[in-house]
Amino acid sequence: MIQADCVVAGCRELLTCGGPLPKRGRALQDVGLVEKAWIAGRGGRVVFVGTEGEFRRAVEVEEGAVRVEAEGLVGLPGFVDSHNHLPFAGTREREFSLRLQGWTYRELAAQGMGIRSTVRATRLAGREELAEMCLRRLDEMLLTGTTTTEAKSGYGLNLADELKQLEAVKSAAERHPMTIIPTFMGAHEVPDEYRDRKEAYLDLLIHTVLPAVRDQGLARFFDVFCEEGVFSLEETERLVAAGRAAGFGVKIHADEFVPLGGAELAARVGAASADHLIAATEAGIRALAASDTVAALLPNVSFFLMQDKKAPARRLIEEGAAVALASDFNPGSSMTSNMQFVVQLGVYLLRMGIEEALNAATANAAVALCLQDEVGTLEPGKRLDLVLYDIPSYAFLVYRLGSNPVRHVLKNGAAVVRDGRLVRPSL
Ligand code: NIG
Ligand code: FE
Repeated sequence: MIQADCVVAGCRELLTCGGPLPKRGRALQDVGLVEKAWIAGRGGRVVFVGTEGEFRRAVEVEEGAVRVEAEGLVGLPGFVDSHNHLPFAGTREREFSLRLQGWTYRELAAQGMGIRSTVRATRLAGREELAEMCLRRLDEMLLTGTTTTEAKSGYGLNLADELKQLEAVKSAAERHPMTIIPTFMGAHEVPDEYRDRKEAYLDLLIHTVLPAVRDQGLARFFDVFCEEGVFSLEETERLVAAGRAAGFGVKIHADEFVPLGGAELAARVGAASADHLIAATEAGIRALAASDTVAALLPNVSFFLMQDKKAPARRLIEEGAAVALASDFNPGSSMTSNMQFVVQLGVYLLRMGIEEALNAATANAAVALCLQDEVGTLEPGKRLDLVLYDIPSYAFLVYRLGSNPVRHVLKNGAAVVRDGRLVRPSL
């Protein structure tokens, strides 16, 4: 018999999102639906998924086991937010108003707003202050169904402040149930003091900051913003080579506004993901489809910046790319971390199917963080990260807008949200 210390009884519908990963093409339509499902866990991992009859035959429940009644609820793997700029200080509502008056994101950035204004605010914040901001944001994310997230630095842009951001993430991770994967993004922008000395900033990143982040074990990935006016394709290539050599996995903010060939580069260097891709070319789409690099789409950005242009999700899926969805939570181009909203925009703006969008925000998103053996699906061996929604069927996650139907969240088999409230708020 399978021993269990956690039982979830009788979900109306359970989406395991299981199967060979990453999911490509038609496989993205299979969400592994089990009706009237029972789930069992042990030691924080899934040990069983099936019907009540199968459960009774196969599972022995240990004394003192956690039991969650899921009658009438719909269960999904916790969302995996593979692109999130979590540790930032300050907000940019003035810049938002200017955009409403007709200025563009890139025009404002060129005038010192944009990323550089968040850099100024983040440099002023203390490490503990930043950690507390992260904790509040992580609580909010749990409450909307995210159980794993990435956290990028990139608003410090010097040695001390990049380390401070990553230390704040580490400190928050030690105090919060969320699985957090830190990414070093010193190559997010060229800071004010290096505006006329970009080469010197590249030197600083490659020879000082990257080695320090590596030596202190503060990040798993290295990410570069490959964009006109930020880092060119050639500069991105040099940075990525240095990141690789230092042992980091690679991510690239690719083809967000101007197609510089970031998607092709990501595929060529075996990046874990190429993110944004709003302006990706046909060659970029085909290069990603032929590679193991995940195409991480961030539809919040097109929505938030009110751009007509959207990431070519349909073309990517048709060609066979491994498409993921993520929030890009940051104060400039996506001021929300709510993955339900991301999935909705995946459908409404990118024309993904409901099942495609859900797989992209769970199973494939886990691949974008190289966590496919841990999270993103509800299969034996994976962590028991389960979100139970109070909805009649999973389609309501997309069909019903503007509510938050999360009822309970289990993280590693422990209840962290019950009846829509945090079991133990961080602050
Ligand atoms: O992913 N594109 C670059 N970085 C962010 C925006 C950051 C900001 O505006 O502060 C993004 O969209
Ligand atoms: Fe981003």
